[in-house]
Amino acid sequence: MTAQPEEQQFQFPLIAEERVSASMLETADCAAACHIKRTSDTDRKDRGQFFTPAPVARFMAGLFERIPDSIRVLDAGAGVGMLTAALCDRLAESDGAHHVDADLFETDPLVIGRLLETVDACKSRLLSSGKVLQTRVRVEDFVSDTAARKPSLFETGDDGRRYDLAIMNPPYFKLPAESELAMLAQKIGPSQPNIYTLFMAAAIDRLVPGGELVAITPRSFCNGLYFRNFREWLVGRADLLQIHAFGSRTETFREAKVLQENIITHFRRRSSCDNGRLSVLVTRSFGRDLESVERQRLPIERIIDTSCGDALISIPEAPEDAEIVEVAENWPNRFADTGLRISTGPVVMFRTREFHAQAPSSRTVPLLTSHHIREGLVAWPRDKKKWPSSFVRCDQSRKHLVPTADYVLAKRFTAKEERRRLSAGVLRADQFDDESLAIENHLNYITHATRELARVEAIGVAALLNSAFMDRYFRSFSGNTQVNATEVRTMKFPSLSDVAEIGTELLSCRAYCPEAEQVVMRRLGLSRTVCDYLKGYIR
Ligand SMILES: C[S@@+](CC[C@H](N)C(=O)[O-])C[C@H]1O[C@@H](n2cnc3c(N)ncnc32)[C@H](O)[C@@H]1O
Repeated sequence: MTAQPEEQQFQFPLIAEERVSASMLETADCAAACHIKRTSDTDRKDRGQFFTPAPVARFMAGLFERIPDSIRVLDAGAGVGMLTAALCDRLAESDGAHHVDADLFETDPLVIGRLLETVDACKSRLLSSGKVLQTRVRVEDFVSDTAARKPSLFETGDDGRRYDLAIMNPPYFKLPAESELAMLAQKIGPSQPNIYTLFMAAAIDRLVPGGELVAITPRSFCNGLYFRNFREWLVGRADLLQIHAFGSRTETFREAKVLQENIITHFRRRSSCDNGRLSVLVTRSFGRDLESVERQRLPIERIIDTSCGDALISIPEAPEDAEIVEVAENWPNRFADTGLRISTGPVVMFRTREFHAQAPSSRTVPLLTSHHIREGLVAWPRDKKKWPSSFVRCDQSRKHLVPTADYVLAKRFTAKEERRRLSAGVLRADQFDDESLAIENHLNYITHATRELARVEAIGVAALLNSAFMDRYFRSFSGNTQVNATEVRTMKFPSLSDVAEIGTELLSCRAYCPEAEQVVMRRLGLSRTVCDYLKGYIR
C-alpha cells in the first residue's frame, strides 16, 4: 500500500452563490445536488455513493448524548460532507464543543472539491460562534487506514486518533471473498460480509471508551447467519442506545432510489466501568418529516436476543409490535423444538432442465413452485405457459423428489411490493395420485421431523405463517424479503398441540382469510389493542 499524505490540499474555486447559505447543512445539500448533476448514476452506484437527505443528517447529528468541550470526530465515507455539516450545525448552537477536530475519509476524487467547500463553510460558521474546527480531509480508503494501524491502535490507544464521535453513512456492497478489502477486514475484527459492516466495525474500533457511533446502514446486519459474527463482535464491544426505523423508505430516500431497508443505529463503545445499558430507545418516523417521531423505550432483552446463541436484533416498530414480540417471546418453544422440520425444496431449476416437462404424463410427477401457493392452499396445476409444471420421474431424478404427504409449502422470496413476508399453503397428499413430488428451491417445505404431519397441524402451521401476527413478528427481526429456513427454525412458535387446535377450527374453511386471522388472534389470546392494530395488516 502506498503511503498517503495526512492532508491533501485542493484548489477548487468555490461558486459564490452556492457558498452563502443559512446553515452548513444547506451548503452541503447544494454541493450534493451539484455533484449529482455532474456525475453519472452508475459511477455513484459503483462507489456505493448515496448522500444522506438533509433531514436525516440533522436527525442523526442530534442523537449524540455526550459532547465534550474538545472533541475528535470521524466521518468515514464523507461524500460532500452532509453528516459533518449537520453535526457542525448542532455544535454551533451548543454551549460546549469549543474545539472540534475532525477526520473525513473519502476515496472519490470527484467529490473532494465539494467536500472541501462544505468543510470551509463549517470552519467559518463555527468560528463565528467562537469555536475552532480543524479538519483532515483524507483521500484514503478508511478500511486500509484502519487496518494499517492495527494492532498498535489497541496497544497504545493514542496515535490511533481515538474518536469521541463517529457519524457515518458508509458505502454498501458485498465484499468478494478474495478481495483486498476482505483480507484487510480480517485484521479489523470478525469476518465481514459487506463493506458497510466493515466500516461500522472499524469505527467502533477507533472510538474512545464511551465514544459514540451514529450510523445509517441497511438493516440486514440485524439478523441472519451471514452477519452473525459481526453482531456478536459488535454487541460484545458496544451498547445499543437507539434504533430508528423509517415508516416509509421511498418517501425518505426519494432522490437516492435506495431500495434496501435502512435504519439508524446509535452505539456507545463500552468502557471497563460500564455495566451496559438496560434499555434501548426505538423510534420511527414517517415520510420526510423527522421532527416528530414515535418513541418507545424497551428493555434490552426485547431488542437483542442472545437466547439462541446468536445476537439477533429485533426492531418492533410500533408499541403494538413490541407487544407482539412479547407474546411470541413468551412461547416456550422455537420452531425447531416443536417437532416441526423446515427444509428448502430440492429442485434447482437451472440444474435440472433435463427433467422439466411442460405437461403431466405417466412418466412425470407434479413440479411445485411459488406460483402454486394461492390463498393458503397449493393450487396445481396452474396455467403458466413459460413454466414447466411437471418433472420426469426416473432413477436419475429420484434425489430431487420428496414422498407425497401433507406438507406446508412456504415461499422463500416475496416481492418488495407484496404486503406479506410470510406466505404459505397447505399441500394435501390427497390432491395428487403420484407417490412423489418435485418441490422447487424457491419454496421451503415443512413437515414433522419424525412422522408425517397431521392435516390439522398442516392447516394450523399455514394459518399461523399467513397471519398478520406472524408477519409483524417476523418483520421485527428481519428486514429481508427473503425467508431463510434458519430464521424460521429459530423463530418462537406455539406448541404443536396449540397449532393443531388452530387447524382443527379451520378444517371446514375453504380458504384461510379472513376466518383464519380471527381464529389465530383468539387462540393466541391477543389483547384488544393488538387485534385492532393487526386489522390494519389483514389482507
Ligand atoms: C453512502 S455514501 C455517503 C456519503 C456521505 N457520508 C453522506 O452521508 O451523504 C458513502 C461514501 O463513501 C465513499 N467511499 C466508498 N468507499 C470508501 C472507502 N473505502 N473509504 C472511504 N470512503 C469510501 C464513497 O465515495 C461515498 O462518497
